[in-house]
Amino acid sequence: MARPLKIAFLISGRGSNMDKLLDLCAARPDQLEAVLVAADRPAAGLARAAARNIATRILTPADFGGRRPGQEQALLEAIKAARADWVFLAGYMAILSAELLDQLAGRVINIHPSLLPHFKGLDTHQRALAAGHRQHGLSVHMVTAGMDEGPIILQAAVPVDDADTPDRLASRVLAAEHLCYPAVLAALADRHLSLDQGVVWHPAAQLPDPAAAGLLWLSKGPRAAEDHG
Ligand code: GRF
Repeated sequence: MARPLKIAFLISGRGSNMDKLLDLCAARPDQLEAVLVAADRPAAGLARAAARNIATRILTPADFGGRRPGQEQALLEAIKAARADWVFLAGYMAILSAELLDQLAGRVINIHPSLLPHFKGLDTHQRALAAGHRQHGLSVHMVTAGMDEGPIILQAAVPVDDADTPDRLASRVLAAEHLCYPAVLAALADRHLSLDQGVVWHPAAQLPDPAAAGLLWLSKGPRAAEDHG
């Protein structure tokens, strides 16, 4: 049997997506091994990772004279020392440099709370409401040097309610993230998703049922552009 895939996680805060991914690693020890949780600032999620006996690191730019390159070099060394096969960003707030990403060779995955290419960056829920979109959602994508760019692995749409506030919408999107991000990691573990030659899904990949999950749609790869108004 193939050895477990070794997964490193980068976080900057709460770490609720990290928790769901670590739950999956714990449930599938033959396939998945969480080898590192690293943060670029003190992050609430670190203590929970440590409580699971997973190696944790805090590497802040301030530790390197305020210099991102020094911080990134230390991060890269930690990821390499952990022999991680994949790096999952789970609320990591810094943009990784092209130099770091070159070293990690297409092995970095992110989740973003919008239907990319809409609303790259911050405050996505507020911006989706302000724009009058009737569908919001999430995207899981491979990380390339552009912010919130890179090939789409999976997208899921969350319907917008008339009564939504940014927080109310955010909580439904986050619940969808908690289903979809583990589904991507599970597909990698099952070898039902290959990212070596772009995003290639195996027909047997198990994804959440959009209806049961309260989603409008869930799509492998990017959903075709459509009218969000
Ligand atoms: C999530 O909404 C994720 O999509 C975004 O940052 C947030 C992180 O939340 N990249 P958490 O730290 O996983 O709770």
